Amino acid sequence: MKLPRQFFASLAIGAPAPLRELPVRLERMIHFVPPHNEKVRAKVPELVRQVDVVLGNLEDAIPVEAKQGARKGFIEMAKAVDFGATGLWTRINALNSPWALDDVTEIVGAVGNKLDVIMLPKVDGPWDIHYLDQLLAQLEARHKLKKPILIHAILETAQGVNNVEAIATASPRMHGMSLGPADLAASRAMKTTRVGGGHPDYKVLADAQGDAPRAAFQQDLWHYTIAKMVDACATAGIKPFYGPFGDFSDSAACETQFRNAFLMGCLGAWSLHPSQIEIAKKVFSPDPGEVAFAKKIVDAMPDGAGAVMIDGKMQDDATWKQAKVVLDLAKLVAAKDPEMAARYAL
Ligand code: GLV
Ligand code: MG
Repeated sequence: MKLPRQFFASLAIGAPAPLRELPVRLERMIHFVPPHNEKVRAKVPELVRQVDVVLGNLEDAIPVEAKQGARKGFIEMAKAVDFGATGLWTRINALNSPWALDDVTEIVGAVGNKLDVIMLPKVDGPWDIHYLDQLLAQLEARHKLKKPILIHAILETAQGVNNVEAIATASPRMHGMSLGPADLAASRAMKTTRVGGGHPDYKVLADAQGDAPRAAFQQDLWHYTIAKMVDACATAGIKPFYGPFGDFSDSAACETQFRNAFLMGCLGAWSLHPSQIEIAKKVFSPDPGEVAFAKKIVDAMPDGAGAVMIDGKMQDDATWKQAKVVLDLAKLVAAKDPEMAARYAL
């Protein structure tokens, strides 16, 4: 077992020290771009003003013949664009693929100082994180990087779900994780071809009452995994996210899936289509009515102790903490978004 003291030691001589606290950043949507596509790359400077995180995708959805082009395009884009307060991430190819090693070495070598987070797909256990952790430390030392690059795992294999707590606590480099419902469905042999969301056949049937038609209630296929992921992340002090929603034509279902994840503790989701940026912004910015109520609680109990009644509802230490979660997030949103700041009136 690694001793606690060693946990925060650099893994390579000359590498920047691991972070003790994650940077406080708004990450409501992680917007995926295919970096081999020149037209898409040309729009990134404009995109930077609309999203919280721009992610250059190198993995699934990038054709094999475009893998090298995507890596080069990402480096070009990272060099050319000023990302300001917007996060710059990349999703590298899986560790067992022919591309992963060059993805990491070339990108960190060329633009390591601009890269915030590497998203690592198909993480099965802490061993995958340990490998990338060590490799990144060596590269950070070689290229004299100033800050550590963080790792975001995709939870998308049955084995990964089984090991989720060990993955979350594998390294101080862990930023968080996202649910990957497509690969996870395949890995578990779930019988769905959808990317996230519900399934009409996954339901509970009301009891029979004579010959009357029986109501059916659709259930949430992802509830168990999101709950498990949120608990593992909260325990480790890292951030949970919902991943992709594949049906771009069904914005209502996308919004519902995102909101379920938000209510359960997730901080953001992936946007794979421009229409999903606004959905994520709406869902992952707390509701102004909720923020106003949270403010009432904190104003009534400035030190968080005791008990008071507000609008007929009991408030105590625990609801004060709930209110703080909502208020802290609202402040983060308000600092970035003047329109939301006005609606929150903080
Ligand atoms: C995402 O990568 C997924 O497999 O859902
Ligand atoms: Mg996947």
